[in-house]
Amino acid sequence: MSRMPASSHYSGIISRYQSRLPVAAGARIVSLAEGNTPLIRLEHLPELAGGGAEIYVKYEGLNPTGSFKDRGMTLAVTQAVTSGSRAIMCASTGNTSASAAAYAARAGIIAFVIIPEGKIAMGKLAQAMMHGGVVIQIAGDFDDGMRMVKEIATTAPVAIVNSINPYRLQGQKTAAFEIVEALGRAPDCHCLPVGNAGNISAHWIGYSEYAGAATSLYSLMGNVSRYAMSPPVTSARPKMLGYQASGAAPFLRGGMVDRPETVATAIRIGHPQSWDLARAASRESGGWFGEFTDAEILATQKLLAEKEGIFCEPASAVSVAGAMRDIRSGRIAAGSVVVCTLTGHGLKDPDTAMAQSTAPVIKVPAEPEAVKRVILSRM
Ligand code: F0G
Repeated sequence: MSRMPASSHYSGIISRYQSRLPVAAGARIVSLAEGNTPLIRLEHLPELAGGGAEIYVKYEGLNPTGSFKDRGMTLAVTQAVTSGSRAIMCASTGNTSASAAAYAARAGIIAFVIIPEGKIAMGKLAQAMMHGGVVIQIAGDFDDGMRMVKEIATTAPVAIVNSINPYRLQGQKTAAFEIVEALGRAPDCHCLPVGNAGNISAHWIGYSEYAGAATSLYSLMGNVSRYAMSPPVTSARPKMLGYQASGAAPFLRGGMVDRPETVATAIRIGHPQSWDLARAASRESGGWFGEFTDAEILATQKLLAEKEGIFCEPASAVSVAGAMRDIRSGRIAAGSVVVCTLTGHGLKDPDTAMAQSTAPVIKVPAEPEAVKRVILSRM
């Protein structure tokens, strides 16, 4: 009998990065083989931005539930189960609820998810329901839900799995590790959509660890494990560039925003919980924040789909809109290597995609001649 080669089966970010993550030895790991997502070099959009820089997208929509949340959820749910929780809870604009429900299903515990009425993309709601999450819809927005979750968790026996849970950020920092490994260096700039502001903070922690560099984020987070890389994997860290929708842009207004509105429902947040962390990440990295109108966000989503073959949800596209504008203006230096995180898959929000697809579906009789006429008229 021939001998089997050593298994290279990928089994998620905890098994891949366990020495850099706060997971107890012997813990039951709750994973769906999240992470290890592709870093795709864009071929056409850099040209449209003036040709001054290379742009890569980290396609986090290819995680098991279609968003970056899975990286944090594997840690948060593993920790919840380790500490004996039988239920988890979150407020969500959609993706966190989908991820929480899936990982809770995997763990055999209950997920209670609080979502804003009428402002959640259909794919995300379908996921939360399909995985057996208990979906609680409130007549309010994400910020109302977040306030309630924090209050309820002080007395109810449920673990919060929003990104105020430090395990979430620890898991999400692994995306920065993967990017440095894929490029063989840190990018010059990293562009992200910013909503609750956990992900930009998590990336800065990840880049700082791989550079063996100090960051104030650990002291801001309080009592969490610190991981220093020795020797450093890379000598540099990127500028962290955060982009928001104009109707939900507290980082551009310099303070919290009540009743945020945007078509990019994932980032329809006016009171980001990781405000201090994201501000510190921006400042320490020499980065900045920018904003885009809904029309600009949707146009960039379409551009990515049509010119690069990559379908992301509206919120994700704001990172690429930011990269392109700041490359064009020279604010991002010529020759830079830029990474944009595409946080969620386009299939999450089919309604918004359909609504902006202007080309009609062409209806013809079921006859070859009729189909051929269409082909000839389009070539
Ligand atoms: N992009 C997508 C697709 C998201 O779902 C979110 C957040 C963000 C970007 C912003 O990331 O909050 O770390 O700044 N979604 C959360 C949710 C709020 O409930 O699914 P952030």
